[in-house]
Amino acid sequence: MNEKAKGAFLWGSATAAYQCEGAWQEDGKGISNWDAFCHSDKNVVNPVNADVSCDYYHHYEEDIKMLANGGQNAYRFSIAWTRIIPDGIGAVNEAGVAFYNRVIDCCLGHGVEPLVTMYHYDLPQALFERGGWENRETCEAYAAYAKTCFERFGDRVHYWATINEPNYETQCCYAAGNYPPNVQDLGRRWRAMYHLLLGSAMAVAEFRAGGYQGMIGLVNDSYSIETLVDDESYRKAAHCADLFYNRCVNDTCVLGEPPRDFVEKLVADGYDLSYVLDGDDEILRSGTVDYLGVNAYLRYLVKPYTQGETHLKMSNSGKKGDRVEAVVKNWFELDRDESIPTNDWDMEIYPKGLYNLLMALHDLYPDTPFIITENGIGYHEHLDELGNVHDPYRIEFQSQHIAWMREAMREGVDVRGYFVWSTMDVYSWINGYAKRYGLVYIDYDNGNKRIPKDSYYWYKGFISSLE
Ligand code: BG6
Repeated sequence: MNEKAKGAFLWGSATAAYQCEGAWQEDGKGISNWDAFCHSDKNVVNPVNADVSCDYYHHYEEDIKMLANGGQNAYRFSIAWTRIIPDGIGAVNEAGVAFYNRVIDCCLGHGVEPLVTMYHYDLPQALFERGGWENRETCEAYAAYAKTCFERFGDRVHYWATINEPNYETQCCYAAGNYPPNVQDLGRRWRAMYHLLLGSAMAVAEFRAGGYQGMIGLVNDSYSIETLVDDESYRKAAHCADLFYNRCVNDTCVLGEPPRDFVEKLVADGYDLSYVLDGDDEILRSGTVDYLGVNAYLRYLVKPYTQGETHLKMSNSGKKGDRVEAVVKNWFELDRDESIPTNDWDMEIYPKGLYNLLMALHDLYPDTPFIITENGIGYHEHLDELGNVHDPYRIEFQSQHIAWMREAMREGVDVRGYFVWSTMDVYSWINGYAKRYGLVYIDYDNGNKRIPKDSYYWYKGFISSLE
């Protein structure tokens, strides 16, 4: 582990391969499901792609240097599976390995600890066409790919994340249907999520078998689940929502088995669980994580289920009034408190939710360290006449979340790091380039020029004030 970050709290920011790299066909890279989707006629909401995006593939040195100059001692990024093994299974593409070697060495050269995610939504299209995560073959392929990552980068990378967001990804892919394969079928969602978790456990086993140093975790989007009414029916709805969003993933990777009442509910709802095979329980138990990565964006207000079919809807238009909705038949419905502010994508701004979430996670998993692997807020942003971006709303958002995180730490929760989403503006899945999260503005129309926002300088000052 590099000296500067060794044992220190990780203060950083994050990106993901498809969202920032560009160079979609360069140096032997294979085609991913997102490359294919964004070029297909299904990409209708904001029909753009990340073929180039902010062209990080050719600007990574500038981005990492800027991150380090901003006082950050850690950087979370993801590896594109398609750069390492272009079709998901088969020979290693040495040019892809060389690229990530350069990225990792650049981080270490600047005293920045890399936290590497091995899968962040972009699946080799060849595997996607054979069923993707619905097909158990993908678990085996993923474990083999993860082993390659450990072998090639494990001498220098000491923080690994197996999978990004089994919850949100499968919700979007198989419930809301806005991500490929654009399906609305919860049965298929549970199957894909199960295989993501099984694949993660297999990768953890490879990591342990190889005797690599460092920590391996899984990153999930977790939510503080709250209600406006405190009675039995609301408490029951909150419990169901906690199972649906959080514990189906978190219990499985932290404790090594899904919650019993979650499985009972799936059986009661009539889902076919024949994809669970003999011996899987042992794989899950021996593949538990060293830390849980927490992507913290929202709390969810919930209420009891009343009527109607299961229905999940995301807000991808960026227009106020386009609402996120969730009704899960016989489980719960999303509620709302109109007095809480939201951004243009109907995301609640509620910093205390991070404290509530961490306390709840600590109650469930008292022996597990947490890393806040993403926390951020998306806005429509433009350069002003002097060519700057003033983003006081982001400074307020991040500083309040950090304050609530530190309060939870004072009360005994073991948090090891905090990463702003995102290092710079990147492609936002389905929302395109309109929704900006970066500490650094990307001028997409002017050669992808990097322009630090006020929040970049604020974060730098905040980190240095701690020393
Ligand atoms: C997380 C993802 O769910 O949220 C990121 O891990 C993503 O990849 C971030 O960009 C923000 O979501 P969105 O859809 O607003 O870009």
